Amino acid sequence: MKFIILVLTLLIAACSVNQSSNHESLYQALGATSGIEKLTDAFIEQIQYDPLVMPYFFETDVARFKEKFMEQICEISGGPCNYTGDGMQDIHGGMMINENHFNALVNDLILAMEAIDLPTSTQNRLLVLLAPMREDIIYR
Ligand code: HEM
Repeated sequence: MKFIILVLTLLIAACSVNQSSNHESLYQALGATSGIEKLTDAFIEQIQYDPLVMPYFFETDVARFKEKFMEQICEISGGPCNYTGDGMQDIHGGMMINENHFNALVNDLILAMEAIDLPTSTQNRLLVLLAPMREDIIYR
């Protein structure tokens, strides 16, 4: 009986944690615009260390990439921004990005989120939003 009460108590606690994090928009959980900028800077840094992904960015205008990526994260996380960059299919078309490249870039993002100490639950909320873009990015 004691065990059942313990399990129920833990379940209720887990639900309330979930509810409070769901009430906070992901944009807020990411630290709003300044948090998203910190994340984007850390992401760009990780890309520079990544031998699989870095060659793709040799000729990229990093200032533009930073601006557009920040807008995109801000918009999809529920922040007050409009993404003004190119569509995912258009921008990644012709790059022949495969699963390995895609996974490597996602891993760079995870390392960036770890580097700025974002909680795992917040990391997962962002990753869930980015995952469906995979189909528009690989083998284009
Ligand atoms: C969920 C995954 C991804 C997201 C959300 C994403 C997002 C973006 C965004 C917002 C831009 C800027 C668009 C613009 O300038 O209008 C961009 C550009 C770019 N992305 Fe991705 N991307 C992803 C995956 C990848 C992968 C896997 C690669 C290659 C390994 C890649 C390579 C690039 C490159 C090279 C550019 C710059 C293109 C240029 O120089 O014009 N991206 N991406």
